[in-house]
Amino acid sequence: MPASRRGSGSVILPSGQTLAIHTRTHDEEDLPHATKKTMADHLRKYESLFTLTPQRMRMIVEAFTECLELGLSKPNQIVPMIPTWVFGWPTGKETGDYLALDLGGTNLRVCLVTLQGEGKFEITQTKYRLSEEQKQDDGQKLFDFCAECLQTFIESNTGDGPGQLRPNQLLPLGFTFSYPCTQERIDHGELIRWTKGFGAPNTEGRDVADMFKKSLEKYQLPVELTALINDTTGTLIASHYVSPRTKIAVIFGTGCNAAYMERVPDIPKIAHLGIASDAEMAINCEWGAFDSFEHEHLPRTKYDAIVDDTSNKPGEQAFEKLISGRYLGEIFRLVICELIDEGVLFLGQNTYKVEKPYCFDTAFLSLMESDPTDELLMIIGIFTHFFALETTLAERQFFRALAKLVGRRAARLSACGIAAIVNKMGLLEDGCSVGADGSLYNKYPSFAERVHEGLVDIFGDRGRNVVTHHAEDGSGVGSAIIAAMTKARREAGLYPNV
Ligand code: BGC
Repeated sequence: MPASRRGSGSVILPSGQTLAIHTRTHDEEDLPHATKKTMADHLRKYESLFTLTPQRMRMIVEAFTECLELGLSKPNQIVPMIPTWVFGWPTGKETGDYLALDLGGTNLRVCLVTLQGEGKFEITQTKYRLSEEQKQDDGQKLFDFCAECLQTFIESNTGDGPGQLRPNQLLPLGFTFSYPCTQERIDHGELIRWTKGFGAPNTEGRDVADMFKKSLEKYQLPVELTALINDTTGTLIASHYVSPRTKIAVIFGTGCNAAYMERVPDIPKIAHLGIASDAEMAINCEWGAFDSFEHEHLPRTKYDAIVDDTSNKPGEQAFEKLISGRYLGEIFRLVICELIDEGVLFLGQNTYKVEKPYCFDTAFLSLMESDPTDELLMIIGIFTHFFALETTLAERQFFRALAKLVGRRAARLSACGIAAIVNKMGLLEDGCSVGADGSLYNKYPSFAERVHEGLVDIFGDRGRNVVTHHAEDGSGVGSAIIAAMTKARREAGLYPNV
């Protein structure tokens, strides 16, 4: 063991929480040459495993583009390319009060949205945390919980003041249900499969809109389920409402997915419905499923294979498992565990805390990457506070470099997905704006920058024509706008489809 000096101090997390830290603070010089060399050697190995060359990226884009086409041409493909029955862009003149319910990967959110037209809106919202048990409990119970939260929200926002709901006012509701659902109409959705760790039984294969309507009836709520939407579709519409250059929307959060607006004649699988040929419809790609089961195109490491095998849905969501916030921390942790087993890290310390699956939050990766101190105090804080582990400077530098590799790979793969849609829709010449949302996009330093670098690696300089921007709130505002668009279509006699 190298000679070490013990130190202590504190570090402040972005949440404001202060962590007391205790550390083995060797100087680099204190480490035997062999140790330093080993960390550097290991880093080289992981660099080659996690780095994506521009050439490899272009191959992925090519395969991805083919999968998008296939999903549009036939039903039940790996990337399902789901028609959403959201026809065309909002006019910007949508107005009125709408309720929006968003069942996300982590929270349930209820919003009252007042659309004021011309890209303006007001929103009142409440969030309810979902427990792990609820995600695995019976599906109908989950929807009952949604209805119960909606009831509490309606009760506490009813009154005669400005911005309040009037007693028994019947309100249209947009339900953002961000899991892959096949839709035959806008207020219908058959759950193909749960993603993001959800597993509620008695739900897959069933119409979740119908299940939710049953819960609304049970609680006798004065709402009408107008539209069932995916968060990406909501984001597409909300971003376009405020920024009409938006052509694609992407979510980089607990899960990962994209939506864009397609010409109806280019969706061969719905040709038999005879929808007007000049119509456009939003497509929920469900691109998280790209390369599922076959694992032919994506650069999977053995850590990715472990994440997949030990998940509640082995084989599924292959692309999402390399990118989304739910998995990045776990990929990092599996590398750390390998190095513990090899006797490289944390010698002589009890590592049981870090050996627990999914204990390493993806937020830690972004904190480690943005640690501004020479000593890497934030990294010291994370390891001492959460895992009772002391670290050397060489280890901390390795952790930071590893976080960067995992985060960078995720961003570059995301660029491949965006590039495939850009390719397919011929958006490169004129350029386009991509509305992006989700914790990874919003909170991971340099994620957006790395996506942009990736686009340039794929397309050369013209890749600069495609720019991501922080999107408008799709599950709240987007859902309200879609409910408004649907109401208008109904009033014009255009429901359910054409
Ligand atoms: C779901 C998508 C969703 C994405 C982002 C994925 O796991 O399958 O429907 O859009 O997560 O929330």
